[in-house]
Amino acid sequence: TSTAWSPQGEFMLPSSRTRPNSKTNGVGVQVEDTRICVVMVGLPARGKSLIAQKVVRYLGWLSITARCFNVGSYRRNDTPHPTADFFDTSNKEGERLRMAAAEAAVADMMRWFKSPNNLIAILDATNSTKSRRRWIKDRCDAEGVETLFVESKCEDEDVIMSNIREVKLTSPDYEGQDPEQAALDFRQRITMYERVYETLDEDESDMTYCKIIDVGSQVIINRIQDYLQSRVVYYLMNLHIKPRSIWISRHGESMYNLSGQIGGDANLSERGQRYAQVLPDLVKQSAGDRPLTVWTSTLKRTAQTAHHLPYEKLSWKALDELDSGVCDGLTYADIEQQYPHDFKARDEDKYNYRYTGGESYRDVVIRLEPIIMELERSENILIVTHQAVLRCIYAYFMGSAQDKSPWMEVPLHCLIKLTPRAYKTEEERIYADVPAVSTWREKGSKAEHANTPDPSRLGSPSIKAESKEVPQ
Ligand code: ADP
Ligand code: F6P
Ligand code: PEP
Repeated sequence: TSTAWSPQGEFMLPSSRTRPNSKTNGVGVQVEDTRICVVMVGLPARGKSLIAQKVVRYLGWLSITARCFNVGSYRRNDTPHPTADFFDTSNKEGERLRMAAAEAAVADMMRWFKSPNNLIAILDATNSTKSRRRWIKDRCDAEGVETLFVESKCEDEDVIMSNIREVKLTSPDYEGQDPEQAALDFRQRITMYERVYETLDEDESDMTYCKIIDVGSQVIINRIQDYLQSRVVYYLMNLHIKPRSIWISRHGESMYNLSGQIGGDANLSERGQRYAQVLPDLVKQSAGDRPLTVWTSTLKRTAQTAHHLPYEKLSWKALDELDSGVCDGLTYADIEQQYPHDFKARDEDKYNYRYTGGESYRDVVIRLEPIIMELERSENILIVTHQAVLRCIYAYFMGSAQDKSPWMEVPLHCLIKLTPRAYKTEEERIYADVPAVSTWREKGSKAEHANTPDPSRLGSPSIKAESKEVPQ
C-alpha cells in the first residue's frame, strides 16, 4: 500500500499501556465492548479520506485505537495509474480488480479487529452502491462488528473542483502527469461513479448511518445505537472546511517561571509583561485583519498576557494548567528531593503519571475534549494557555504520540500558528524578541537551568518562521 501518501497511517496509535476494558479505556472515556467499522460512502472528492483521517486522529488522541483502511491504496498495488475508464462499471477487468481491492481491505480489517485493543476501523472507499454496502454489512455482521455508514454528499461544483485541485492532482494515481489532464480525467472518473451511485435511503433503514449533506449544512442520522457511535457522529457534525488558522501561545514569563516553581497563579514578570505588549503586533503580522477570538484560562498569567489584544475574549476553566496537586508551588528539584519516587515515575511515563491530588496529561486531554470540539466548530482562534495544555492541544492537531507530546519543547514568548490543510496541519513558529527563561525539563534532569535565559531567545529576530508539514 502507498502509506507515504495515503492519509491513513498509524503514527499516533496510543501506547500499549492504554488497554481498554469493556466499559472504559482507563481515562474516563467510556468505551463499550463493541467494535465498529465506519464505512465511508460517497462519490470521489467528497472529503471521505479527510474525514476518515480526522476521525482516526481524534479517536487516537482520546486513546481509542482506530485505523483507516483505504481501498484505493490496495487497488494501487495492481493498478497504480488508472485512467477514468478503469472505473467504468462495464469494464469487467476493472470491476474485478476493484472488488479484489475491497476484499483485501476488508480481510485486513477483520484481521486487525482480532486484537482486543483495536476498536474502530474506517473503510475508506466510495462504497457507492447498495449492493456493495450490503456486502460490507453482511461481512461485518458475520464477525460481530457493528457498521456505521458515513456518507458525504455534495453537489456543489465549486467545492468539488476545489477538492480536486487541492488533493487529487497530487494523488499517486496521477504521478508525473499534466495537472490539467489529470483534473479532466478525475472529473471523468466521477462521471463513471455517478452512473451507478446510490445514496443511502429508506431501503437501507435497517442500517446505522449518518449522511452529511453539503459539508454539514444538513445531517441525517439513522439508528445510532451506542455511545461510541454517537460520539463519532457528534464529532462529524462539528467539522467544517472553511480556511482558518489556530494560534497558540503560552502566557508571558511569570514570576513562578523565574523561580522555577510549577503551578500556582503568579503574575507576569517584567519580561512577561513585555511579551503581552508585543503580542498584538505579533498576532497582527501573522493574522492580518482576520477576525479572531481569544481564549485564555482562568489564571492571571494568561489573562494578563491577553490584556492588550484587541479581540473578543473568553476564559475557559478547561484551559487551566495541568494540576500538579501536592507538588503545586515546588520546583522540579524540590519534587525530586521531597517525592523521589513520584519524580522517577513521572519521568518513566509522563503521559500517564498523575500528581497526588492533581492530574496527568491523560486527564488534561479528557478535559480538553470540549475545547477541541469547539475549536472544530470555530474559525480563527488564538489560545493563550499553559505549557502542558498547549502540548495536548498541539498533539491533537499534529497527531503526536503520547510518549513524545509531554516532552515537547514549547518556549515562552513564541506564537505557534497551526493551519489545517487537507491531510496535514501546517505549523509556523513566530518568536517575540523578548527573552524568557526556559521551563523545559529534559527527561532525567532536574532542570536547574530554570533561571537561565534561553540563548536562542537572545537577539533572535522578531519573526522566525518555520513550516512543518505533518502527513496524516
Ligand atoms: P474523497 O476521499 O471523498 O475522494 P478527499 O478526502 O480526498 O475526498 O477530499 C479532500 C477534500 O475534500 C479537501 O479539499 C476538503 O476540504 C474537502 N472536504 C472535506 N469534507 C468535505 C465534505 N463534507 N464535503 C465536501 N468536501 C469536503
Ligand atoms: O513550569 C511551567 C508549567 O506550566 C508548570 O506550571 C506545569 O506544572 C509545567 O509547566 C508542566 O510541564 P511539565 O509537564 O513538563 O512538568
Ligand atoms: C479506488 O480504487 O480508488 C477506490 C477508492 O475504489 P472504490 O471504487 O472501491 O471506492
